[in-house]
Amino acid sequence: MEYTTLSNGVKMPMLGYGVYKIEPQECVRCVQDAIGAGNRLIDTAQFYKNEEEVGEAIKKSAVPREEFFIVDKVWITNSGYIRAKTSIEESLLKLQTPYIDLLLIHKPAGDYFGIYRAMEEAYREGKVRAIGVSSFNEKELREIYEFAEIKPMVNQVETHVFYQRKKLHECMEELGVKHMSWAPFAEGKRNIFENPVLTEIGKKHMKSSSQVCLRYMLQSDIILIPKSTHIERMKQNLDIFDFELDREDMEKLRELNEEKGISPVEISGFTGGLYYFFFKAKEFFNK
Ligand SMILES: NC(=O)c1ccc[n+]([C@@H]2O[C@H](COP(=O)([O-])OP(=O)(O)OC[C@H]3O[C@@H](n4cnc5c(N)ncnc54)[C@H](OP(=O)(O)O)[C@@H]3O)[C@@H](O)[C@H]2O)c1
Repeated sequence: MEYTTLSNGVKMPMLGYGVYKIEPQECVRCVQDAIGAGNRLIDTAQFYKNEEEVGEAIKKSAVPREEFFIVDKVWITNSGYIRAKTSIEESLLKLQTPYIDLLLIHKPAGDYFGIYRAMEEAYREGKVRAIGVSSFNEKELREIYEFAEIKPMVNQVETHVFYQRKKLHECMEELGVKHMSWAPFAEGKRNIFENPVLTEIGKKHMKSSSQVCLRYMLQSDIILIPKSTHIERMKQNLDIFDFELDREDMEKLRELNEEKGISPVEISGFTGGLYYFFFKAKEFFNK
C-alpha cells in the first residue's frame, strides 16, 4: 500500500474501498471481503445508511482499529452546527468507534459552514483525526478554506479518466488539500471497462482496464476508493502497485479527459439549494 500525509501529519492510505449503494443486508459481507482482500481504508457516509454495517464488519475483523482508516461524511439534512454535532455523535455510535479518521462535509448544500464548525470542534475533542469536504468546486473550496480555523485536509470529488479535474487539482495542491476521487470508474458508465485506450494500455502491462484507470490516478497523486461487491474485483482493484505507466501511457490517458461528470448537474449554489430542500422535504414526509 502507498500512503499520503495530510496537512496535519496524519498518514492516509492512497487506496481503499467505497460502500455507496451497497444494500445494508449485503454490506457486512462486502466490507468483510474488502478487509480480507487487504483494504484498510473504508469510505462510508451518513447518507449511505450503512455506517452500522461498516462498524460491525470492522469490529468482527481480527484487524486492530488503529490499522483502519474510516472516512465518513455529514449529510446535508444534518447541516447547521447543532444538527451536525448531534449527527457526528450518532455516526460514532453506529460505527462503534471512539474516533473517525477523516470526516467530510458531503455536499456544499444547506448550512455547510455550520457543519464545518461542528467538525472542527469534533477534531479538537479528538473524535475526528482529519477533516475535509466533498464535491466542492474551486470557489467553494477557497471560501471554506478562508472560513476554516482548521484548514480542510481533503476534497473528495468526482474524478475519473473522463473527468480529470486538472484545474481543481492545481487549486488543491496550492492549498495543501489532498485530492480524493469518488466514482473512479465513473460508476461503470460510458463503457469505461471496454474503452479501447484503457484495454490497450492494460494489455501492454498485463493488467485490466480497471487497473489502468486506478493506476493513472494513483500516479496523478489522487486517493482512490473504488466500490465492488465482488471479491475478485476487490482483489484486482488493490493489485495496482506492481506496475508503472510510462510517459506515453500517461499522455494517452490524459487525452481521454472530457472534463464532464456522470451527473447532468453540479450540486452547487442554486442547484445545491434545490437539492437541500428536496432532501429536507423527503425527510419531513418520511417522519
Ligand atoms: N462524496 C460523494 O458525493 C460520493 C459520490 C459517489 C461515490 N462516493 C464514494 O466513491 C465510491 C466509489 O464510487 P461509486 O461506487 O459511485 O462507483 P465506482 O467505484 O466508480 O464504480 C463502481 C462500479 O464499477 C464496478 N466495478 C468495480 N470494480 C470493477 C472491476 N475491477 N471490474 C469491472 N467492474 C468493476 C462495480 O460493479 P460491482 O459492484 O458489481 O463489482 C460498480 O458497478 C463510493 O462507493 C463512495 O464511497 C462518494
